Amino acid sequence: MSDTVRPATTERARREDIGDRKRALAQLFDRSAPTYERVGVEHFADLGRRLVAYAELTGGQRVLDVGCGTGAVLVPAARAVGERGEAIGVDISAGMVARAREELTRHGLHHARALVGDAETVALEDAPVGPGSFDAVLAGISLFFFPRPRTAVARYHRLLKPGGRIAVSWWGRPDPRWDRVFAASAPYGRGPSSHALPDDSPFRSIETFHAVLSTAGFTDVETTEEDCVTRFANREQWWSWVWSTAGRQFWETVPEESRAAAEAAVNAELAGLESPDGGLYSTSKVRFTLARRER
Ligand SMILES: C[S@@+](CC[C@H](N)C(=O)[O-])C[C@H]1O[C@@H](n2cnc3c(N)ncnc32)[C@H](O)[C@@H]1O
Repeated sequence: MSDTVRPATTERARREDIGDRKRALAQLFDRSAPTYERVGVEHFADLGRRLVAYAELTGGQRVLDVGCGTGAVLVPAARAVGERGEAIGVDISAGMVARAREELTRHGLHHARALVGDAETVALEDAPVGPGSFDAVLAGISLFFFPRPRTAVARYHRLLKPGGRIAVSWWGRPDPRWDRVFAASAPYGRGPSSHALPDDSPFRSIETFHAVLSTAGFTDVETTEEDCVTRFANREQWWSWVWSTAGRQFWETVPEESRAAAEAAVNAELAGLESPDGGLYSTSKVRFTLARRER
């Protein structure tokens, strides 16, 4: 848990560790940014639209999108609140924010901004993010990356206006058919898959995440679980996609001399998953959680 009292040296070491993890994540997503959602696989854009639909935004609202990435949530959110509203995206990766800004410009969404910053603390110089200043806080496939999600959620509760809503998308179980693909790669590299969570993560079950939201003061907490079907045209596209996401973290640890063997082991498993047209399908569970700050 994040908010217990600790000796000063332990607390300092913990803060340094959290700082290191955040820097590593920012660099990881900086490396993904050039190809993220650009390899011909529609994945995050679809999830982003679904999250915004759940949030039921209306014209004129003020919205904060935490971990905005390249704008999968921010762009439809900015459209939903319209020019009388405002949408602010925050992301720790400068590379992702540069891409989000391009998207906002391309779509003419001048009432939306993307800012580089730590969305866990939301200490932004360029945007007024005072208490009670947002109608909605959105977090699309991002909150479980934050080292202190409990602290973040408590902060978002304070940032919301009375009656304001938080909407979070996050992963349920990955497609079990793909377990053998990840098992085949495991001996060659280090570290977790992008679906792995720390033992104390609130995202280990719907109940634990709901408890965190309730503790932070949210009411009307509900989660809907849906399928997330992703189609890859062929193996090559799947490989490009992995390197365009946080999934590259594992592959970066595979030593150069083992890369060919690791790829061959994975390709052998992918061959068994191919449909007759050569395509690959993954059906994971995605969760959409909504909660409200009391009026
Ligand atoms: C999987 S991406 C999702 C991006 C976007 N919301 C989407 O739906 O495509 C996760 C994002 O969270 C960002 N992120 C991770 N930790 C963060 C933090 N502490 N503050 C802000 N952004 C963070 C990453 O840089 C990355 O862009």
